[in-house]
Amino acid sequence: MYRTHDCGELRLGDVSREVTLAGWVQSIRKFGSISFIDLRDRYGITQLLIGEALNEYLTETPLGREFVIQATGIVSERSNKNLQIPTGEIEIKVSRFTILNKSATPPFTIQDDTDGGDDLRMKYRYLDLRRNEVKKNLELRYAVNRAARDYLHQQKFMDIETPFLIKSTPEGARDFVVPSRMNPGQFYALPQSPQTFKQLLMVSGYDRYYQVVKCFRDEDLRADRQPEFTQIDCEMSFIEQDDILRMFEGLIKFIFKQVKGIDYTESVERMSWEDAMWNYGNDKPDIRFDMKITNIKSPLKRNGALEAEGQIIGHANFNVFDQAETILAISIPAAAAWTRKQFDAWTDWVKRPQIGMQGLVYIRYNEDGTIKSSVDKFYNEERLAAIAGFCEAKKGDAILILAGREEKTRKAISELRLEMGEQMGLRNKDEFKLLWVLDFPLFEYSEEDNRWVARHHPFTAPKPDQIAVMINNDPAIRRAEQYLEHPYAGIKANAYDMVLNGNEIGGGSIRIYQRELQEKMFDALGMTREEANHKFGFLLGAFEYGAPPHGGIAFGFDRLCAILGGSESIRDFIAFPKNNSGRDVMLDAPSTIDDKQLNELSIEIKA
Ligand code: AMO
Repeated sequence: MYRTHDCGELRLGDVSREVTLAGWVQSIRKFGSISFIDLRDRYGITQLLIGEALNEYLTETPLGREFVIQATGIVSERSNKNLQIPTGEIEIKVSRFTILNKSATPPFTIQDDTDGGDDLRMKYRYLDLRRNEVKKNLELRYAVNRAARDYLHQQKFMDIETPFLIKSTPEGARDFVVPSRMNPGQFYALPQSPQTFKQLLMVSGYDRYYQVVKCFRDEDLRADRQPEFTQIDCEMSFIEQDDILRMFEGLIKFIFKQVKGIDYTESVERMSWEDAMWNYGNDKPDIRFDMKITNIKSPLKRNGALEAEGQIIGHANFNVFDQAETILAISIPAAAAWTRKQFDAWTDWVKRPQIGMQGLVYIRYNEDGTIKSSVDKFYNEERLAAIAGFCEAKKGDAILILAGREEKTRKAISELRLEMGEQMGLRNKDEFKLLWVLDFPLFEYSEEDNRWVARHHPFTAPKPDQIAVMINNDPAIRRAEQYLEHPYAGIKANAYDMVLNGNEIGGGSIRIYQRELQEKMFDALGMTREEANHKFGFLLGAFEYGAPPHGGIAFGFDRLCAILGGSESIRDFIAFPKNNSGRDVMLDAPSTIDDKQLNELSIEIKA
């Protein structure tokens, strides 16, 4: 038997017992004729006391950090207690001691505050994984996984695996492809998600499906994106949108409770996509704090909300505003007292290339009721007061204003709002705020592909009242919205995203389940019937054999874990992640393959 206990479990109640522990040497401290070793395993650290007799052996036998050792001895009360750790009141007076394996000196210290840089830690990820910080993250990940499975099992969901070697149907991101040896010149694709399979399972009658499943997407990477990542993927039959929202806010609340001990009893706020864009400038608003955007001027006219625009901003021979497509403002509480330097710093901030604005206009609505601005030359106090009123600013507030092209300006003010929230301490990592964003547009224009694409995916159903519009291609819809080029531009999808603290943690939709509507959707995306049949014939075929109404959602499992763990980066929550260039620096993958393999696959590499 290698051990009787682990390194995290012995307490004062165990004093006088003989125990055997095994683990890694965290540190060795010599004091004259005795030594202390901190022995570490997955469960904790226990102090070993090496007395005089064995200490000689230690002097002769080199023992270093990360050696794997086994020690037997009596549990004793420590005179010098360490109350920071659970085992800190005891130590083991070692009588027998074996080195099970040596270790080279690790390239960085295996400690919470390690001296290892990112690249080094990734190269030696197996050592990095020994660190407490990383271990805590993986433990949290496992807890989330278990909680999700428990909840879904209770709700009669069934875990069904779906294949990884599938057919390439590029939509959204690029596919990773796998050459087939047995079918020369042909390729499988790795799934971007199990989307069509879970829909087929609904056709097969498995009305509640889930899977904690790997998805593969060849896309540009960021802190919250990996080329292979994990989803909690779910699908249900005979449901409406409301059933899905309730079922899955239940899931997330259950996870909060199980993993963080948080009772999230309040109902989850629901917000339309339009409101999110209008008030927060993006489709995943962080609603832990308010500071909504005011639309002073915008082509996205909504419900007469901009009626006052003409009087508010008027014409003032101020080119920046007169010629701007969009003017957006945000009132910052208690910022009227800011110094000129503070305003300048924010001006520099919006001018950074990542934000890319030309400048920032500010209005101070002073406590004494006076108004001063950086554009006093162009606007008199009365006009500025009207703008401040329009922005619902209070005395003591400052209004920050950005002007420019619609999309860029909206994005910029949204970033400004988030950064402001961050600096004002309004984005507390321990506060969790869920939000459903609903009614996304069914289509969006892809500048990259120069065509209309499905905003979520092509299996997403339009809102029920708009299905007839789509089937009949009612020209009335042409007038409905800002993007006039496409007959379906104004159609809203029966799609929803779940947002947690400003991050999209999940997304899904009610699906199309009739062949006719699905074909119409492919038409709208500019696919010919042949193309649609070639790519999705299996699904169109299945819809002819009694497809039930269905819908679902997938959660970004890595993202959910990262947010619950208070981190921006999902890499910290993946045992073996890739770096930002999609490389596994430990394996050194991707790598070339030899000519024999290439030949077998009938592949020639272009020089
Ligand atoms: P979607 O593409 O929105 O939906 O993905 C669902 C969730 O997965 C997470 N996610 C990612 N996480 C890490 N790295 C990535 N590269 C990455 N891409 C996405 C996000 C996202 O909300 N089949 C549909 C779901 C459905 O309709 O049921 C789908 O995959 O948190």
